[in-house]
Amino acid sequence: MAKEAVIFKNVTKIFGSGEGSQKAVDNVSFSINKGEFVVILGQSGAGKSTVLNMLGGLDKQTEGEIIINGEKLADMNETKLATFRAKTIGFIFQFYNLLPSLTAYENVALTKDILKNALDPMEMLKRVGLEK
Ligand SMILES: Nc1ncnc2c1ncn2[C@@H]1O[C@H](COP(=O)(O)OP(=O)(O)OP(=O)(O)O)[C@@H](O)[C@H]1O
Ligand SMILES: [Mg+2]
Repeated sequence: MAKEAVIFKNVTKIFGSGEGSQKAVDNVSFSINKGEFVVILGQSGAGKSTVLNMLGGLDKQTEGEIIINGEKLADMNETKLATFRAKTIGFIFQFYNLLPSLTAYENVALTKDILKNALDPMEMLKRVGLEK
């Protein structure tokens, strides 16, 4: 496998069309090697979240190429993307995206519905001091 885990090649993201369109990401290229720890830094509105959403398969670029572990995200169908999001990418969202009608345990235990080898929810809550 290539040493690059993540490759962005001339990626542009435009929201909307016509006069009201917004270029959120403008011709961005970078790569991240396997094992590398990377920070994306920039002023509010610079396009950081938009870049991460595309990297995580939550949104699609308007132009350019995104390759993760040798696979082009644009070539993945929705089923493949869902597996990619479940197994390859982990997200800690800026806003917490929990289901308010579920308990803390139930929110974490949702992973069991998605993944065969999900980690033990109580074990995970213990790790971050939330078991009570
Ligand atoms: N869904 C959307 N529709 C239209 N414009 C959007 C959308 N999402 C983001 N934008 C615009 O794209 C630009 C980049 O937004 P983004 O949220 O990626 O910035 P950010 O760097 O994550 O900012 P922050 O530091 O505030 O989180 C902004 O001008 C924003 O208004
Ligand atoms: Mg953001």
